[in-house]
Amino acid sequence: MDGTCAIILAGGKGTRMKSKKPKVLVEVLFKPMLGYVVDACHAAGIEHLCTVTGFRAEVVEEFLNKNYGGSIETALQAEQKGTGHAVMMAEDFLKRNAGRDVCVVCGDSPCISGEVIEEAYRYHKEQQNAITVVTAEMENPHGYGRIVRKNKQLQKIVEQKDASIEEQHIKEINSGVYWFNVDNLLSQLGSLTTDNAQGEYYLPQVIDLTLEQGGRVGAYLSEDSDIVLGVNSREELFRLNEKMRRSIIYKHFENGVQFASMDGVTIAPDAKIGVDTVILNGTIIKENVVIGEDCEIGPNAVIQNSEIGDRVKLNATQCYQSRIHSDVDVGPYVHIRPNSEIKSHVHIGDFVEVKNSVVGEGTGISHLTYVGDSDVGRNVNFGCGVVTVNYDGVKKNRCVIEDEAFIGCNTNLIAPVKIGKSAYTAAGSTITQDVPDYALAIARNKQEHKEEFAKKKLAGRKKKFQ
Ligand code: UD1
Ligand code: CA
Repeated sequence: MDGTCAIILAGGKGTRMKSKKPKVLVEVLFKPMLGYVVDACHAAGIEHLCTVTGFRAEVVEEFLNKNYGGSIETALQAEQKGTGHAVMMAEDFLKRNAGRDVCVVCGDSPCISGEVIEEAYRYHKEQQNAITVVTAEMENPHGYGRIVRKNKQLQKIVEQKDASIEEQHIKEINSGVYWFNVDNLLSQLGSLTTDNAQGEYYLPQVIDLTLEQGGRVGAYLSEDSDIVLGVNSREELFRLNEKMRRSIIYKHFENGVQFASMDGVTIAPDAKIGVDTVILNGTIIKENVVIGEDCEIGPNAVIQNSEIGDRVKLNATQCYQSRIHSDVDVGPYVHIRPNSEIKSHVHIGDFVEVKNSVVGEGTGISHLTYVGDSDVGRNVNFGCGVVTVNYDGVKKNRCVIEDEAFIGCNTNLIAPVKIGKSAYTAAGSTITQDVPDYALAIARNKQEHKEEFAKKKLAGRKKKFQ
């Protein structure tokens, strides 16, 4: 949308959330609320964005820089004196956007969509309004600013704390999303006052001022009242999470994903899941996850920042920042830690941990094994209880295990060490030197017998039962 810009209000503390974080960074389904609002502005095609920060501004800025690479301006509101005051802090940004229209949106409304912002803009332009407020009808409007109309025309917005009993019955509310003509907004900001129940500069007062001067003001009623759902307390956060959780699962139904039940299943909004994949109970899919087709995920899987191929089974497995190729089965009770790549046809059984390692095609790591900082080839067989001893107390060292090697049960591989192609290690070995290709390494004490040892012992031993 050419000729547009947006201001996101994110300076408030969010006292009722009782959080150390600024409210706009509280997460809904693993994503901070502010992230949803920025993404909605981008989805609407708004390029120039300014976020007003205040309470713990530095962490809000850090979030924006990390996720949007410094493309979003910030304006500091050192003291929080209301939504109107917050917009005043962005005056510089507004001046640079003179002649345009600005969308002002609250950073604590994660359900706002790009479509609604766009539709409201179209209406704003058609009507040639100086201000367009996005409104919605709410069954329980308590806490929101009410839309007061006269002869159907928007007359003013009254805040909950300023509303008369009659006004409190109004079900049409201010969503906190507006389009303003920038020049008009700039000319009115200086005239805002604080003579209201909260002693704050209210942004909606710009409507009163504009109407007084004969400007055109309109309300765009959104059909979807969910867009306004703001979060002011932990209980509201819980309700919003639950609502979004369900709607995301319904979206995956439509894409051909199967769910055994919704119990404990939570999926981040950006997850991509292929057709015929089955999600079992207790599965949590956090941000930045792609899962292929015909997989079985869960029960009780946690996945984050990872790419999973087709026909993969992840049973009671946690997988972070890793890639699992197709036809792999994992679990139960497996931890795949960051920077791991598990190639196709690998089998990983119970109580296995893999970290910062590549595991080649067809390799089996069946039980009770730790593979850390290792490069493992194809068709390697790990016996039970193998440990890569990757840490010497100072630095991490790598193990290299070449194709078709056979690592006997309870082998310790003291890194850095290399096991050659098709080489064997005998069970119980502690391997400290490289093993040549095709060799068998035995690194354990030879067994000896002390004959008749037990007879002498037994003679002096009291028996509990005769
Ligand atoms: C505001 C609106 C209300 C509307 C509701 C929709 C006003 C006066 N009221 O009320 O009509 O129905 O949003 O959700 O505008 N903020 C700042 N600096 C401040 C104060 C607030 O940046 O000094 C930010 C907050 O971080 C928040 C947003 O503005 O993201 C809204 O503030 P909040 O205090 O939640 O306003 P509401 O009381 O919900
Ligand atoms: Ca709010």
